Amino acid sequence: MIGTYTLTMIKPDSFASADQLIQRISFEGFKTIGMKVTMLTNDKAAEFYSVHKSKDFYDDLIKFMTSGPIVAIALQKTNAIEDFRTLIGDTDPKAANPGTIRSMYGSSIASNAIHGSDSDENAIKEVAFFFPELIDKIKTS
Ligand code: CMP
Repeated sequence: MIGTYTLTMIKPDSFASADQLIQRISFEGFKTIGMKVTMLTNDKAAEFYSVHKSKDFYDDLIKFMTSGPIVAIALQKTNAIEDFRTLIGDTDPKAANPGTIRSMYGSSIASNAIHGSDSDENAIKEVAFFFPELIDKIKTS
């Protein structure tokens, strides 16, 4: 059902702690329906973050996201978008609430440990980006 999915990436700066992050996400009630470890190419990172192309941080963002491996995870939970954004905290780790993933594992707004979809529409696009095989199931469930 739409509204119950989100897409996360464990970013290159927190890849070494991926096991801890995966455990925490699962503990918080998110069901993993797809997971893959990958390296984003420049083209793939540019496609994923195309909405930010005009921003002054765009070039640094692409450089950072292609600097090492990531873990892409499709997640399912009631109220997935909002609950996951609460779990990861503010985009800027310094502004994130204590105990949130970004406050614990991020170091700056550029190196903020983890991504979470910001809307149902983007969640579907982002799940399709990494897991095209899941889209029929999501749209019909
Ligand atoms: P993310 O949730 O993956 O979505 C876009 C990313 O751009 C964001 O996390 C940040 O890591 C990164 N970014 C870098 N600089 C900024 C900035 N000044 N404002 C917002 N996002 C930024």
